[in-house]
Amino acid sequence: MDIKELIKSRYSVRSFTNEVIDIETIKDILEISSCAPSGGNIQPWKIYVATNNAKEKLVEKALANYDNGVQEKIEYDIYPNPLDEEYKKRRSECARNMYTALSIKQDDIESRLSQIRENFKFFGAPVGMIVTIDKSFAENGWGHVGMFIQNICLSAVERGMGTCLQESWSIYPETVKDILNIPDSEVVWCGIALGYPNKEHPINNYRTSRESIEKFVTFIE
Ligand SMILES: Cc1cc2nc3c(=O)[nH]c(=O)nc-3n(C[C@H](O)[C@H](O)[C@H](O)COP(=O)(O)O)c2cc1C
Repeated sequence: MDIKELIKSRYSVRSFTNEVIDIETIKDILEISSCAPSGGNIQPWKIYVATNNAKEKLVEKALANYDNGVQEKIEYDIYPNPLDEEYKKRRSECARNMYTALSIKQDDIESRLSQIRENFKFFGAPVGMIVTIDKSFAENGWGHVGMFIQNICLSAVERGMGTCLQESWSIYPETVKDILNIPDSEVVWCGIALGYPNKEHPINNYRTSRESIEKFVTFIE
């Protein structure tokens, strides 16, 4: 697959088959992903790979949190508050498209909450990963980790797999750290669901759009 096709083929997969991924394949993906650039080559990414019992334990506890309305101390702002109207519009469109694909109406709160709950099952993926970064890093370091994460997403696609990045996991940092033994010196940034896409599921059969480059590029001569 050439790079253009690879980038265009990636999308957020929110339903997976139960096909198992062997640990050597996961290692391979992570090794190639670590070729990402980082300022001073500091490589500030950390990633915890949960499979089998560890993943089940994490999912069980997170679902219990969700069902019981547990609130943990969140370690970073997922979105700026307030969020500018332009960004809000894109976020609403993103949600609208997803719920439309699932035939969930705007006022059907129960179905919407039930779909959000799927996050805490890693959408049924056989592999659940948690990305962290040392608390000492500010925005610059987080940007470097982003490059590593994108490599994971693309490497998965190249192998016929898919991913969904999940900031949703950042709402339960205490649970995640407790179950995966992550030191409190790290911030739980996001999760990554990894597996083979369930191509039959409607949630995997719509695509998000992007603004034209005029919206975000300034050419200066
Ligand atoms: C850091 C990050 C966190 C995200 N967190 C979630 C999440 O918690 N749940 C979810 O369903 N999608 C999540 N997404 C996926 C975005 O909604 C998705 O990337 C965006 O709508 C564009 O769609 P696409 O990935 O299909 O191109 C996240 C994406 C990023 C980059």
